[in-house]
Amino acid sequence: MIDLDRALDLDDPEADDFLAAIQGNIVKGHGRDFTAHVLLRMGDDVPAVRRWIAGLAAERVTTALVARRATLAWRGTGGPGEPFAMVLLSASGYRHLGFPDEQLPVPSGRFVGPRDREYFEFGMKEQAGRPRSFNDPPASEWEEPYRQRIDAMVLLADDDEQRLSDTVDAVVASTAGVADVLTTERGRVLRRTFPRGTLVIEHFGFQDGVSQPIMVQQDADREIKARGNVHWDPTAPLSLALVPEPGGGFGSFMVFRKLEQDVAALHRALRDLSVRAGLPVAEVGAMAVGRFEDGAPAVPTGTVDPDADPNDFHYDQDPAGTRSPFHSHVRKTNPRGDVPRVIGAPAEFERARRIVRRGITYGERPDLADGGGTEAPATGVGLLFMCFQGNLDQFAIQQEGSDSNDFVRAGVGVDAVIGQNAQPAAQTWPSDGTVTFTMANFVKLLGGEYFFAPSMAFLRGLD
Ligand code: HEM
Repeated sequence: MIDLDRALDLDDPEADDFLAAIQGNIVKGHGRDFTAHVLLRMGDDVPAVRRWIAGLAAERVTTALVARRATLAWRGTGGPGEPFAMVLLSASGYRHLGFPDEQLPVPSGRFVGPRDREYFEFGMKEQAGRPRSFNDPPASEWEEPYRQRIDAMVLLADDDEQRLSDTVDAVVASTAGVADVLTTERGRVLRRTFPRGTLVIEHFGFQDGVSQPIMVQQDADREIKARGNVHWDPTAPLSLALVPEPGGGFGSFMVFRKLEQDVAALHRALRDLSVRAGLPVAEVGAMAVGRFEDGAPAVPTGTVDPDADPNDFHYDQDPAGTRSPFHSHVRKTNPRGDVPRVIGAPAEFERARRIVRRGITYGERPDLADGGGTEAPATGVGLLFMCFQGNLDQFAIQQEGSDSNDFVRAGVGVDAVIGQNAQPAAQTWPSDGTVTFTMANFVKLLGGEYFFAPSMAFLRGLD
């Protein structure tokens, strides 16, 4: 029996069976450059919907084992590789398929609170006030498709954009008489060249996807070798993202949020702050994100390999927030030691709040293509944020951390990158300095939902 409380050891004789029983993209990212997120409302012919999902599972859905082998093969050959697909269900999807609330997936693990199952049961639209209040805009202000009941997402991904479009057409055609397609979001990886190499970035211009919990022991060993682990151990138990399913398999809770980025406003704010603080824009940017644009952490890193993404740092190296202020994005969302040091909660609790990010950027950037001649966009671009976790309360880092003026210490202000708050407190730059300036509300939630990625056996068994 695979032990969820540890990282997966690929040499375990049961590892392949375990990976063949779960969907890909949870334990390890699918790594494709182009994605399509088909959001669906199921139709009234429930047996037909069940058959349709079982058919997708048989024909298209990529198991974690197949995904892993495809990645290894791709490393050898390059090129467009294989298409990737997964199916995710919301609570309304489960109910529509005939599962009563007692059979919905529930969070598990040492730190699960009595009301944590409510995130999934109520869904993202109904969240306000239960179990905790959010600073999210109300669903009435979301984009129209997201105001509808969303039962499922089919996530398709490919390195060949045309082949992805063909797959989307085929999947959408197959929904006829079975489900309504509410919207199809398209994601594409954005890259930028730095002296260290060509790196994946998000729209504000910073390297993204660097720091992840690693749930395969051999991958963690490789990463530690390249990046070091004097200060930070990226290893994570499988239970960080996977939970036992009521039917006996394993699956994962997923947060999906379409986040619009006002790139023009953030860049303007950094320029203003740079003047106010008398520091280069690059330095105040690193204080906002906690990393420089090329991914170098604001806190000195123990990573020695110049080609590796630097991730070996801890806030015990910067207890006063001199380099990475308490409001910096990566410090709010992974406080690396602040929770035990400042709040006094166990270090294991803090590590159990980590999330497994799988987001991708959306929207066009003509301003990057024309050498900077056009203004950076204020709307129309952003992140299709996705993260997996074993308990949706792990995502409370958004509302209790990033959106709060008082995490991890009273009055430090919201997360300078993603914090949403109608009354943001002015942050101090750096946290032990004297310059006060407010950076908040550059990222806007346009819609989203909580999903669960069921096991392969669950999906196939719907027929
Ligand atoms: C890391 C940008 C939304 C959680 C990062 C990094 C950037 C970034 C540039 C540093 C690179 C890295 O360590 O991988 C953004 C942007 C967002 C966004 C532009 C919205 C448009 C979110 C949300 C959450 C989140 C909604 C969760 C509430 C994290 C976490 C890390 C991270 C956990 C890694 C921190 C660490 O382990 O040190 N993000 N992010 N991000 N972000 Fe975000």
